Amino acid sequence: MQFEEPTEKKPVGIIMGDTREILMDLPSDTFQCCVTSPPYWGVRDYGITGQIGAEPLLPDYIADLVAVFREVRRVLKPGGTFWLNIGNTYTSGGRTWRQSDAKNKGRAMSYRPDTPEGLKKKDLIGVAWMVAMGCQLDGWYLRNDIIWHKPNCQPESVRDRLTVSHEYLFFMTKSEKYDFNQEAIKEQTADGTGWKNKRTVWNINTEPFSEAHFAVFPRELVRPCILAGSNPGDLILDPFFGSGTVGEVATDLGRRTVGIEMKPDYVEIAERRTRTAKQASLQLSVEEAKMPKKREPHMQIFAVS
Ligand SMILES: C[S@@+](CC[C@H](N)C(=O)[O-])C[C@H]1O[C@@H](n2cnc3c(N)ncnc32)[C@H](O)[C@@H]1O
Repeated sequence: MQFEEPTEKKPVGIIMGDTREILMDLPSDTFQCCVTSPPYWGVRDYGITGQIGAEPLLPDYIADLVAVFREVRRVLKPGGTFWLNIGNTYTSGGRTWRQSDAKNKGRAMSYRPDTPEGLKKKDLIGVAWMVAMGCQLDGWYLRNDIIWHKPNCQPESVRDRLTVSHEYLFFMTKSEKYDFNQEAIKEQTADGTGWKNKRTVWNINTEPFSEAHFAVFPRELVRPCILAGSNPGDLILDPFFGSGTVGEVATDLGRRTVGIEMKPDYVEIAERRTRTAKQASLQLSVEEAKMPKKREPHMQIFAVS
């Protein structure tokens, strides 16, 4: 495959295919930042051969993702950052399929993976942390586990445990020293008079997206990652592009994006969505214009402390 970098005029390039193969064709040290949300293990059936997330065995799923993210590390620039959104799952409790739910058709599953060896019916599988630790052992610097708290989470019909209302966003880096714009994502202090370093619990509502029958991640989850991890004009990567949320936010913020997606229907949705991203950019710049001018425009280099 001949890799062509997106340009200012055409800021989003979508490559259709298996991310495991496509990534191998991308040149090393190319992207400034990667933001992605892979399929979760045994949660959704994307109905496509070769999909990640449908591995019958948990160790195979973890190995698949760690291998994908190893390639992501190779194609990131030395100062690059990686933001991985992933959630935990529960063992199937012996059920072999999952019913569709009215709000979310993509949750129907024609299969459920077996309970992993060593775990029991009803066990929470800490798969998000398993993947994060797999990545860490593989060479990534794990810098933060951010809790994405969803105030509007889906109700669950459970009576013997709490309703899960969070997922993780793991912040990782390729190198010990990396490019990180702390100023760009500072939060206001409680009394509204000053600014403080962004905290690790982010309250963000899920965002419905009518065109896709699966959970897209909210733009507000992606935005701080891109602001902290890149400058305008930089190249952003999403190896599981889905409906193209990363492309839309990155375009709004003046960055260029490469998205990889296997399912043709989603590529079509993402193409449509990212083509119209410019309009949102006008709204964002109005919003940004209202913000205090104290933020520094350039990234700083921080060493791991
Ligand atoms: C959780 S969704 C990503 C959603 C995306 N963040 C959004 O906001 O729309 C995961 C995506 O990975 C895709 N996918 C699964 N296995 C893949 C593979 N081997 N190569 C490329 N894409 C794959 C699925 O089709 C799905 O669109």
